[in-house]
Amino acid sequence: MKKILMTLLAVVFVGSAAFARQSEKQNRVLVVYFSATGTTAQAAEKLAKATGGELYEIEPEKRYTSADLDWRDKQSRSYVEMHDLKYRPAIKKKEVNMADYDTVYLGFPIWWNIAPTVVNTFIEAYDLKGKTVIPFATSGGSTIDNSVKELKKAYPAVEWKEGKLLNGMDVEAIRRWTTD
Ligand SMILES: Cc1cc2nc3c(=O)[nH]c(=O)nc-3n(C[C@H](O)[C@H](O)[C@H](O)COP(=O)(O)O)c2cc1C
Repeated sequence: MKKILMTLLAVVFVGSAAFARQSEKQNRVLVVYFSATGTTAQAAEKLAKATGGELYEIEPEKRYTSADLDWRDKQSRSYVEMHDLKYRPAIKKKEVNMADYDTVYLGFPIWWNIAPTVVNTFIEAYDLKGKTVIPFATSGGSTIDNSVKELKKAYPAVEWKEGKLLNGMDVEAIRRWTTD
């Protein structure tokens, strides 16, 4: 009798540990971001704190210098790249197992009212099909609306959620948004 009871207890214990592992996996959040000058990186860090998510930085093979980012200069790297929307700046290949995550936040600075094409490089390199992807951004004033519209159009197989501009938001405000 004691043996049966012990076996039963062991089954329940192993079962609930497996269940706990499973729900842990289901709740895993990845906060992916690109940031050229640090503002979106700060927003991503706050978002990771608010959600308990893990951070993943999209790193271009070649970092953008301040000359590269001069949007008034038609010869600058960002200007040239962003005016050829098929261009895909190379990114560093880093290990990330997308299968581990159900929800992916995807953050970027707004460039010419859309997401920088380095974000497209990331989306096309990693399989986001069927995942819930929630865009976030920082900007000098533009809303995130057009950036999200263009991403939805380019990648209809991704389950896009409404995005949010996180300009100046603190961890608490970000937490309120994520739990809305
Ligand atoms: C090349 C370039 C283009 C930009 N275009 C816009 C824009 O269209 N609208 C806007 O509000 N801000 C624009 N900005 C400002 C950035 O979106 C803003 O400074 C952002 O917070 C920078 O984020 P980061 O520090 O993570 O790179 C632009 C900045 C750069 C460098």
